[in-house]
Amino acid sequence: MGKVAVGIAVACGVAVAAAAAVVIHRRMKKPGTWAKVMEIVKDFEEKCATPVSRLRQVSDAMIVEMHAGLASEGGSKLKMLISYVDNLPNGREKGLFYALDLGGTNFRVLRLQLGGRGRGIVNQQFAEVAIPPSLMTGTSAELFDFIVAELAQFVAQEGSDFEPTPGRQRELGFTFSFPVMQTSIASGTLLKWTKGFNINDTVGKDVVAELTKSMERHGLDMRVAALVNDTVGTLAGGRFVNDDVVAAVILGTGSNAAYIERANAIPKWQGPLPRSGEMVINMEWGNFKSAHLPLTEYDLELDAESLNPGEQIYEKVMSGMYLGEIIRRVLCWLAQEAAFFGDTVPPKLKVPFILGTPAISAMHQDTSHDLKVVINRFKETFEISNTTLKMRLVIVQICNIVATRGARLSAAGILSILRKMGRDTIKEGEKRQRAVIGMDGGLYEHYTEYRKSLESCLNELLGEEVSGTIALELASDGSGIGAAVLAASHSLYLGRDD
Ligand code: BGC
Repeated sequence: MGKVAVGIAVACGVAVAAAAAVVIHRRMKKPGTWAKVMEIVKDFEEKCATPVSRLRQVSDAMIVEMHAGLASEGGSKLKMLISYVDNLPNGREKGLFYALDLGGTNFRVLRLQLGGRGRGIVNQQFAEVAIPPSLMTGTSAELFDFIVAELAQFVAQEGSDFEPTPGRQRELGFTFSFPVMQTSIASGTLLKWTKGFNINDTVGKDVVAELTKSMERHGLDMRVAALVNDTVGTLAGGRFVNDDVVAAVILGTGSNAAYIERANAIPKWQGPLPRSGEMVINMEWGNFKSAHLPLTEYDLELDAESLNPGEQIYEKVMSGMYLGEIIRRVLCWLAQEAAFFGDTVPPKLKVPFILGTPAISAMHQDTSHDLKVVINRFKETFEISNTTLKMRLVIVQICNIVATRGARLSAAGILSILRKMGRDTIKEGEKRQRAVIGMDGGLYEHYTEYRKSLESCLNELLGEEVSGTIALELASDGSGIGAAVLAASHSLYLGRDD
């Protein structure tokens, strides 16, 4: 894309500069040609290509960053945060525990009655609440008060089928899915917001203290026993039921991974080595960046206009919050440059983030002969109803390009973890224990084509023999459950008689 062209594509974003508007107007008069459409799509496809050779370069670069992030604080774009989880659940956890799971547009509150040795979860309830968008960019107190009001209401509804231990404060596992520099298992300061949240006065503060202050304001008698990232919660929740779980990956609104590292391979860890010899690391892989990532003009513009320019670049090419926005930008460019939708750019096409992942996955997986789902989604989302089958095929192709690139890049991330853990090769004659990666997030759970593409790419990268020892397993709601279980294993009352 040339200089002028970039200007036009930017114009499709939030700020429409007057000068750019003039340029657009001039362009609009030019009749679009199908050849131009094909040229733009072909160019986009080439720039998004993820051949195995490139994925290996991405993985090499990620491993370098993993080492750097483990070596020193701030040593890498990959924060490799210490979670203070050095012992994963073993299934013996017992009692009533709560969890609060905050990390996207919804938050969940859960209560679990854990049965102790081998009995797992004997009773559970949860509630899910949408966070009003205004609270995502308001003040810290507003956000926490909203959440705690819901939590307090949920606690008040605790029925007699749950068994709090008399005389003890209720305990909570707090899943907070943003980058946090932990100072202990139950405290940590927010480094920055991601995923559309932007509340300045929380950054640099201890989020457990913020939550606790709000609980006090609401008269809610509860203590936070564990603060965990959703990846760490998913890993713990997975381990609660399956000893083979060694890592967890979230592919949802945002993306991230956690895995079990040898404590003596973490030079920046100052404390005494944990008895287990292990430490769960929250990679914060969303912030990974490398010259090997196949980025296009559309990605660069999306980033430049985002709430966090220059940050979360890996996340911006593969997670649920951004896939639709990349596609919208390509469509916008087609509309402007090749009159894809006629003489004018349909107004709704100019609205940032209007195209969500559910729509993309539905269109991408449309099996009807005339692509009816695409017709309907285009009407609903963009109020565009003049698409021909030929145009709809192009739309599906763009969805496929963007989803495939994201899925294959996630596979490269998973490969990096397996390589770091020494699980990517098998020595001759070695009998390998299975390694399971707990997967969670709406993108992985609901976007079948994305998931299939990720899995087949990982098999391709690992080869048949190693692939046979690795399993990706969906751990729905694992993060909340894991937080409650970690609250149990870090309970203040641990070891005291019931
Ligand atoms: C956050 C991570 C989180 C991931 C998945 C990212 O934007 O930085 O902390 O684990 O989203 O929810």
